[in-house]
Amino acid sequence: MDKRKKVIFSGIKPSGDLTLGNYIGAIKNWVKLQDDYECLYCVVDLHAITVRQEPKELRQRTLEVLAIYIASGIDPQKSTLFIQSHVPAHSEGGWLLNCYTYMGELSRMTQYKDKAQRYGDSISAGLFNYPVLMAADILIYNTDLVPVGKDQKQHVELARDIANRFNNLYSPTFTIPEPYIATTGQKIMDLQDPSKKMSKSDENPNGYILIMDPPEVIRKKINRAVTDSVGEVHYSDEQPGVKNLMNILISLSGTTAEEIEKKYAGKGYAEFKKDVADAIIAELEPIQKRVKEILADKDYLESVYKAGAEKAQYMALKTLRKMQKKIGFIPPAK
Ligand code: TYM
Repeated sequence: MDKRKKVIFSGIKPSGDLTLGNYIGAIKNWVKLQDDYECLYCVVDLHAITVRQEPKELRQRTLEVLAIYIASGIDPQKSTLFIQSHVPAHSEGGWLLNCYTYMGELSRMTQYKDKAQRYGDSISAGLFNYPVLMAADILIYNTDLVPVGKDQKQHVELARDIANRFNNLYSPTFTIPEPYIATTGQKIMDLQDPSKKMSKSDENPNGYILIMDPPEVIRKKINRAVTDSVGEVHYSDEQPGVKNLMNILISLSGTTAEEIEKKYAGKGYAEFKKDVADAIIAELEPIQKRVKEILADKDYLESVYKAGAEKAQYMALKTLRKMQKKIGFIPPAK
């Protein structure tokens, strides 16, 4: 392990099938970071149970998310890939940090406020506390950078506040993490309602594209994507549906907004949409094939998450012990 490399930590909840938003906003960027950083990528199953999960589906999805990481180009030889519940230091660290976090801070989290509106009184305490668990995920590895989509920025900022508070109260313990948000694709929007983010928990399947959607489904969803009556491909806030499709194309093919505007000038939306669908399919089809192969090899997957958890546990325990000591706990007898 190279001590000089900065540490990266990120994760995705296996609470629904992963979307193109998860791919562009997170996974695609993670792949690029592997050579220059010490990367830990986690399937955050403890976070998934903040909303009710069917046990069988949770098990399947957890493995599928791991397979998607690998199929997308995250190399288990370079990065540490693991399942969150295999490293108990996350839960333990989360509890400790709960005692250094204010109710007021948590009730200001936008994502919590949105979900509280949706679930009303039957919202779980886990949904309220989950940013603290996320802070523990990040801080127990002394993470420098957290590559996430824009929707998670506020949670990373809370992790910074908690880290600073703990460091000031005792003595420097945690590295202060920074959110690392890509310039394009930081927020892929819903295809049916481009004012909200594309989300795996959306009720309308036409609003999102799943990483595992077959090509014909992808084509259909892009064809149906809401645009506008302007009829011109422009990168503008006045045309949020078109802008979102352009962002997808920019993120996947590396072109620029100007090039796209020029290419489709005077042509309406049909050809543009076809090319967006082609770009998505070209990106996802090989990944889907590889996911299926990886999922068929359970021994391989197991060897990846076993080695990953061992390495992660070793790193996390060092920080957890430090926290316990500073707080004033008696170290366990040897
Ligand atoms: P989750 O599972 O909701 O999303 C996983 C990642 O995908 C990004 N993302 C998007 N990016 C662009 N456009 C979208 N429409 C879109 N939808 C999702 C998210 O920003 C995220 O990067 N709490 C986190 C998981 C987590 C975590 C962590 C992340 C737990 N512990 C520690 C980083 C570090 C979550 O619910 O992400």
